[in-house]
Amino acid sequence: MTEQHPSRASEAFFGRRKGKPLRERQAQGIASLLPELKLDLSMAAPDDLATLFPVEVDEIRLEIGFGGGEHLVHRAQEKPSTGFIGIEPFVNSMAKLLGRVEDLGLKNIRLYDDDATQVLDWLPAASLDRIDLLYPDPWPKRKHWKRRFVSAVNLERFHRVLKPGALFLFASDIDTYVNWTLLHCRDHGGFEWTAGQASDWLTPFEGWPGTRYEAKARREGRSSAYLTFRKV
Ligand SMILES: C[S@@+](CC[C@H](N)C(=O)[O-])C[C@H]1O[C@@H](n2cnc3c(N)ncnc32)[C@H](O)[C@@H]1O
Repeated sequence: MTEQHPSRASEAFFGRRKGKPLRERQAQGIASLLPELKLDLSMAAPDDLATLFPVEVDEIRLEIGFGGGEHLVHRAQEKPSTGFIGIEPFVNSMAKLLGRVEDLGLKNIRLYDDDATQVLDWLPAASLDRIDLLYPDPWPKRKHWKRRFVSAVNLERFHRVLKPGALFLFASDIDTYVNWTLLHCRDHGGFEWTAGQASDWLTPFEGWPGTRYEAKARREGRSSAYLTFRKV
């Protein structure tokens, strides 16, 4: 499945890893707090992912490409008894998130700072209650569509790690990516789109705080679709 990719480390990540130099506190967060919270993929994953968290959690969610981290922090505060795994390879975003985790004293977050496919392949089968893929890099040009995170291979990865009946949530402001995701999920066959009517996919997810990328899309006049799939 992945043999066609020369570098496993960058199988599905094509973006920037670094932006502006980090401020001192941010650099400190990357040097000291990230190693504490980062998943150690050199060890076998625990059968029970709840043991990854220092507090009791009864549900595990994964957010891929959390960017500014607004959504991840909001959900972690909203659901203190859910364990969140957040993945973001862009170091400036990770540094910002670490600052929030420290300020708010969040205990229900574990992190990873590289390609999400590595974590997906590490996780035990049927171990997640939900995967959030919110405004993934859109790659609007047709010649770049193959870089999109939603692909047959990655949907199979999602399907493996989700518990039966667990959810995959996808948001995007790019029409061709929304259609792309609907078609890929249909073709996979293991995901049921939960929408009954148009208002279901035009309405943000429950308790939705918005994201930085979404705000930019709005300013530029683009609306969004919010898709919810259930693993069948
Ligand atoms: C368009 S941004 C959206 C960020 C955020 N979800 C939001 O809505 O503001 C997409 C994010 O996905 C991250 N990303 C891209 N490929 C990834 C991969 N293979 N694994 C994990 N994150 C990835 C990028 O670094 C970027 O921060």
